[in-house]
Amino acid sequence: MSAEFRVIDHPLIQHKMTFLRMAETTTDTFRRLVREITAMLAYEATRDLATELIEVTTPVTTCLAPVISGKKLCLVSILRAGNGMLDGMIDLLPAARVGHVGMYRDPETLEPVEYYFKVPEDIQDRLVIVVDPMLATGNSAVLTLTRLKQAGATSLKLVNLLASPQGVQNVQTHHPDVSITVAALDQGLNDHGYIVPGLGDAGDRIFGTR
Ligand code: URA
Repeated sequence: MSAEFRVIDHPLIQHKMTFLRMAETTTDTFRRLVREITAMLAYEATRDLATELIEVTTPVTTCLAPVISGKKLCLVSILRAGNGMLDGMIDLLPAARVGHVGMYRDPETLEPVEYYFKVPEDIQDRLVIVVDPMLATGNSAVLTLTRLKQAGATSLKLVNLLASPQGVQNVQTHHPDVSITVAALDQGLNDHGYIVPGLGDAGDRIFGTR
């Protein structure tokens, strides 16, 4: 059985996703929306983090209150579009370490090719949250998760803005232990491997390079 796959259909997320999809949305608005939606996805993806009680002294009395316990966090951005999601993640998880994995899609085969890999040395001790706006074919996510496991990671989550059914299936087939949290699940992929209806090239729209 696969780990959880969740589409977060909160009205705020769905509203913001609609404006993210619009071709006329400007680069600054696009970036702000990615950050805001990502922060909400971070909130949902971390719902199952362990907590422990510590004693605190309030101005009134002492009490036991929960704090996050268990593994420390590591965010991993799949370059380059994943970087657009880092600010939203760090807004909620300010102490997280950050790794980067560089993958580009071979335009002919649509297969990912790795060109950069840098993660914290203690990755085996951390809960790793991989971010990439688009889970399209899923090939980059699958390779990234494989490489992170090779580097020692044992506890992984994937967070995307948009997913295709094929991408979800691909990740679940190769990494059934990895939970997936997305803001929307779209119809499928076109011949160029773009999500349909999608939002276009996420990296170009985040960095204004289109
Ligand atoms: N990458 C993108 O940026 N957009 C898609 O639709 C698919 C992959």
